[in-house]
Amino acid sequence: MKKPTKPPPTNKTLSREDLLHYLKTSDPKELADLYRFADGVRKEYMGDDIHIRGLMNISSYCSRECLYCGLRNSNPATIRYRMEEGDILAAVEQACETGYKTILMQSGEDEFYTEEKVASIVRAIYKRFDAAIGLSFGERPAPVLRRWFDEGACRYLIKHETSDPELYAKLHPGMDYGKRQAVLVTLKEIGYQVGSGIMIGLPGQTYESVADDIVLFRDLDIDMIGCGPYIHNPETPLKHTTPDRERFIQPLDEYVLRVTALNRIVTKDTMIPATTALNVLSPETGARDALSAGANVVMFDITPTAVKKHYTIYPKTAFSDGIADYTILKKNLEAKARRPAGTGYGHREKKR
Ligand code: 5AD
Repeated sequence: MKKPTKPPPTNKTLSREDLLHYLKTSDPKELADLYRFADGVRKEYMGDDIHIRGLMNISSYCSRECLYCGLRNSNPATIRYRMEEGDILAAVEQACETGYKTILMQSGEDEFYTEEKVASIVRAIYKRFDAAIGLSFGERPAPVLRRWFDEGACRYLIKHETSDPELYAKLHPGMDYGKRQAVLVTLKEIGYQVGSGIMIGLPGQTYESVADDIVLFRDLDIDMIGCGPYIHNPETPLKHTTPDRERFIQPLDEYVLRVTALNRIVTKDTMIPATTALNVLSPETGARDALSAGANVVMFDITPTAVKKHYTIYPKTAFSDGIADYTILKKNLEAKARRPAGTGYGHREKKR
């Protein structure tokens, strides 16, 4: 006998059991209702604006060995580059002239960017330009994170990757699951708007752990939640594994939409990107679908063109130019999503 369709969510609190139900269902009507409901929650709490962020990948060096990531230290195939302060400030200036109100600087875990170096970069940007400053430089000691906040950075991104401690340990040699989450707590205490996220479809990931991830976003009061697909990278030790297709509903892009929608319903007033990795997986439909299932943020790549192809977290063939093509990218986005791009900084404002 066919199981009855679960009625669409009516109240906005979903239990862990509800989350599991929606992660596992294969009923297209339930999913359509879920996406529509999430879109309504997005509209109610966040309005229609799509917040565009400028993403600058300033270094492809990384001291870590994460098993899924092309930037891992021992990958000989990755070409390494670093932007110096002068290059970064020139690129930020261009981005601000282009119209960006958020600059997110991202890097592998690269000790080249010392407390002093980053402090100096943040101070210069804060003084000279009118943009919110976000950082994603990995796990750093609390006093360092506080210093960068005091210099003017207001956002910090560090994904917890998976809430399954065993899977975390397997994928991150030499790293500590508890420490990762402690950094998120420290960042909140300092006063950052904190970004976290997971990869969806990791080999060994379970539905239960994804439900736990969503609960964790809520419990840690994460401000920005980026959940993208795990993209198979043949340059990594995970090259011989594929996501467990028995246990994970395919296609993966649809699974990403479920998590996007559930994050929206559970956390309500957070910033949720249509992730870059989803765009790589589904270039035509990814952003549009995520933006109609709860997402309200997109990132444009503003890394200088000479180096951007070397930031090889996962294989990528198409590179957009967030500076030269800003206007057309923005227009296309607005047309696809049928919503306007925001004109402000896109800070998270609590509404609950
Ligand atoms: N597929 C998708 N996302 C990846 N990341 C790293 N490797 C991959 C991959 N193969 C993501 C991780 C990390 C960020 C830098 O990139 O979530 O936090």
